[in-house]
Amino acid sequence: MRRPDAVRNGGPILGIETSCDETAAAVVTREGEVLANVVASQAQLHDRYGGVVPEVASRRHLELVEPVLSDALTESGIDLDDIGAVAVTQGPGLVGALLIGLSAAKAIAWARGVAFVPVDHLHGHVASLYLQPQPLEPPFVCLLASGGHTLLLAVREPGGFDVLGTTLDDAAGEAFDKGARLLGLGYPGGAKLDRLAREGDANAFSFPVARVPGLDFSFSGLKTALLYAVRDLDEAELERRRTDLAASYQRAIVRALVERAREAREQTGFERLAVVGGVAANSELRASLPEAVFAPLELCTDNAAMIASAARHRAAVPYPEFLGLDVYASLS
Ligand SMILES: Nc1ncnc2c1ncn2[C@@H]1O[C@H](COP(=O)(O)OP(=O)(O)OP(=O)(O)O)[C@@H](O)[C@H]1O
Ligand SMILES: [Mg+2]
Repeated sequence: MRRPDAVRNGGPILGIETSCDETAAAVVTREGEVLANVVASQAQLHDRYGGVVPEVASRRHLELVEPVLSDALTESGIDLDDIGAVAVTQGPGLVGALLIGLSAAKAIAWARGVAFVPVDHLHGHVASLYLQPQPLEPPFVCLLASGGHTLLLAVREPGGFDVLGTTLDDAAGEAFDKGARLLGLGYPGGAKLDRLAREGDANAFSFPVARVPGLDFSFSGLKTALLYAVRDLDEAELERRRTDLAASYQRAIVRALVERAREAREQTGFERLAVVGGVAANSELRASLPEAVFAPLELCTDNAAMIASAARHRAAVPYPEFLGLDVYASLS
């Protein structure tokens, strides 16, 4: 006989994240202390294709989800019997990849009779700010800049947010990755471009970023500008100027993010500004917004600690309803 839902409601939360190419599991207490945070990145697997191949990602998640969960439990020193809830990313992301995590979470919640909490991946990124040792409390304006999204959010309470602005085309992380590919840095190239840019002159090339109305962003023209700049150089010259191209390109992305984030803060009148998502790891962005709170480096790119963190502020879905839940691909 299975036990009723949420028998151990006060117990730690087991988080699972498989929305893209990281298989991740974490154990987080109700107070937001991270007991374990395990991330298995598939980046190398997808590098040769120049981007994530959804079917390849799903198959790898299937192989990794069980060992990654076991590692997280072992590292946390918490027995599966003492887990109080299972939190899992329901979307947005790659459908096949999300389904692996969702199915694993359903199985654990059903077999162990623990609470089941579906989490929105973007809410998860924001919730990376709510973890110990220095949890941030709303209200604040949040810049969420990742591989698939670039959003400005008004966060008034930990359970949600209002969207103030978004990208009209490419996400900031996507702009980093596409730029990195044009510079021959492989996938995902954001962090590599960041490192290369440190050796270059950010004023060497002029890469303007489109100003669009409101608090929205647009990065697709920038990528084209880099493409033309690269085409204009012969191989030797390109090699010589690669660092300058990286620095100038990064400067343009960072400038756009910084300007809009400051505008959003002014418009809302909120005192605090926070930055989350993979691009929050960027060294120039971190240096350019000294007034902002940044997610800890290890929690910027996808992880399950942020998913478990978000679950602390979401309602559980009771048995048997949670068994019928499906994933979703995009922001509704
Ligand atoms: N130091 C860095 N500088 C710039 N970009 C970076 C850096 N480190 C990581 N990134 C970028 O962050 C992105 C990955 O972030 P994240 O894991 O949050 O995105 P995602 O989960 O793929 O997308 P989403 O969260 O929108 O679904 C990639 O585009 C990567 O290039
Ligand atoms: Mg993400």
